[in-house]
Amino acid sequence: MAKDFDRMEDSNRSSNPTIHEVSALRRRTFIHGGLAAAASSLLAPLAGCATGGAGVASGPLLGFKSVPVSTADTVTVPEGYSVQVLAPWGEAVGLSGEDPAFKFDASNSAAEQETQVGMHHDGIHFFRHPLTPDSNTAGLLVMNHEYADDGLLHTDGMATWNAAKVRKAQAAHGVSVLEVEAKDGRWSIVKPSPWARRITANTPMAFGGPAAGHALLQTRADPRGVRPLGTLNNCGSGITPWGTYLTCEENFIFYFKGPDAPSPHEARWGLRRGDPVGYRWHEHDERFDATKNPNEPNRFGWIVEIDPFNPSSTPVKRTAMGRAAHEGATVAVTKSGRAVVYSGEDARFEYIYKFVSRDTVKPGGAAANATLLDHGTLYVARFDADGKGRWVPLVHGSGPLTAANGFADQGEVLIKTRQASDLLGATKMDRPEWIDIDKAGWVYCTLTNNSNRGGNNLPGTDAANPRANNTMGHIIRWKEDGDFDGESFQWNHFVLAGDSTLERAEAKGNVKGDAFACPDGLWTDARGVLWIQTDMSTSAMGRGDLKNLGHNAMLAADPRSGEIRRFLTGPAGCEITGATATPDGRAMFINIQHPGESPSERSDPAAPRKVSNWPDQRPDGRPRSATVVIRKNDGGLIGT
Ligand code: FEO
Ligand code: CA
Ligand code: CA
Repeated sequence: MAKDFDRMEDSNRSSNPTIHEVSALRRRTFIHGGLAAAASSLLAPLAGCATGGAGVASGPLLGFKSVPVSTADTVTVPEGYSVQVLAPWGEAVGLSGEDPAFKFDASNSAAEQETQVGMHHDGIHFFRHPLTPDSNTAGLLVMNHEYADDGLLHTDGMATWNAAKVRKAQAAHGVSVLEVEAKDGRWSIVKPSPWARRITANTPMAFGGPAAGHALLQTRADPRGVRPLGTLNNCGSGITPWGTYLTCEENFIFYFKGPDAPSPHEARWGLRRGDPVGYRWHEHDERFDATKNPNEPNRFGWIVEIDPFNPSSTPVKRTAMGRAAHEGATVAVTKSGRAVVYSGEDARFEYIYKFVSRDTVKPGGAAANATLLDHGTLYVARFDADGKGRWVPLVHGSGPLTAANGFADQGEVLIKTRQASDLLGATKMDRPEWIDIDKAGWVYCTLTNNSNRGGNNLPGTDAANPRANNTMGHIIRWKEDGDFDGESFQWNHFVLAGDSTLERAEAKGNVKGDAFACPDGLWTDARGVLWIQTDMSTSAMGRGDLKNLGHNAMLAADPRSGEIRRFLTGPAGCEITGATATPDGRAMFINIQHPGESPSERSDPAAPRKVSNWPDQRPDGRPRSATVVIRKNDGGLIGT
């Protein structure tokens, strides 16, 4: 998700450069070995930022005509717009000029998958091109691959199961770095490209921050607890002002086989007794058997920093930002130059976090800020009923976070973030997903849904999570008292999602505009449009409260008026997730994830095709997650 640091000008903050400008400087530094001039101007005020970057004009935020709800197996966009499929699962990323092509019967090997775009795309960002940073027709697309559906990934689904299939599934996870370019308005992947990269569930990584080397991170394969392997379930993402990508490890626990009697720590993190649901990696990869490697689950749930401009760089799991089922990571910079990272934990009754760096962002790109995210203070949010809120620090020795309560040191606080937040009385939220910041400095977080709210022996409603059986979700927002590193804030609800035609009062919501449910992806573009992407679950879609809403959708909101318009609808069985754009705002990239999803038939390779055959629509093919490019036919700004 792109960040425009220029947005802070509207809230009387420092005139920081747009992230696009930062990326450009970052890139020049990398390519030319550290241009002092570029580096020293990293944090300098840049002209022209207030209107949101080059080529971005002022005017009404929303200028398009809404699209209706849809149940068609296609992507629909407003009149005057077009959609191009750019990077589906299995497309070669361009590691060499001879990477194997995708085979529609899914017979590509694990080694071939390691050269191809992964499955089930999620968070995404367009970085300016290393050699032509002023270009709006070339750049690096970096994206997450959240999970793999083994029913689709292998020719015979899970009818057989072996080590090669596990390896292929691991190769379909992680992150892709693609060099992309447009010619005559048509985008393509550049192959080969020196920046092309696949990061998978087996890529060597490092730990940084207070928990690096902690006893709870040590394993037989890595007795020092400093060299984890791979990243998993990468959901939302973020970027830093020094030009790196943040990928977030969300539902990692579901990959692990648990012991017969999980410890309180394991149970608090959802490790279940016996086999995991769906994944069977542990049968051929002992790393995922927590009965044999009890600390391996502790090595996931982190925010991972990746330098896309250095393909040989080692990704680093930044432990100072805490362990959680992190949905995303959204960076702001204070007037004093500190980095502030917001992250929600997407699970029922979990929390919203903020990390404030100890040090300030330095000129000089990734090299100069290589440990910035390793030192700082992690906070968890408490939303009080009076519309005020507090950021409560997770600091060892402070309040209840003591050895007597099970926290030997700061590393243990960060590994056991959930337990620490429980003791601190943080507010248990309705599944916090993406976070972004508008031009007035409001920070928004999607709370996708929580049908357990108010259930037996479960938390009831509170001011921040006001609906029992919250099937529709809502978007909360807050403004910090003082700067982004403030320890208190004012909050309200931007919208309670819903459908005003429903009878159930709690599902009606208060949407000013087009009905929607289950907000997940969230991105503020350079003009200030708040893009909302939905993730109604496949099993609930079209039924109950969601009966009128068709497929998942992307909507555009005006954060000033609250108006919301439906901009795009997706193919059958998909969710819409991840959004980014070229610096000029004239090409937008989003991800269509898991078209054809059909939970009840997931392990049958033919079943998803019965639901969707998008995007190829080949009788011998299978539905594929894909990045799509959206353009206005007249070359105009997206959303106008
Ligand atoms: Fe991976 Fe919370 O969506
Ligand atoms: Ca999500
Ligand atoms: Ca979701």
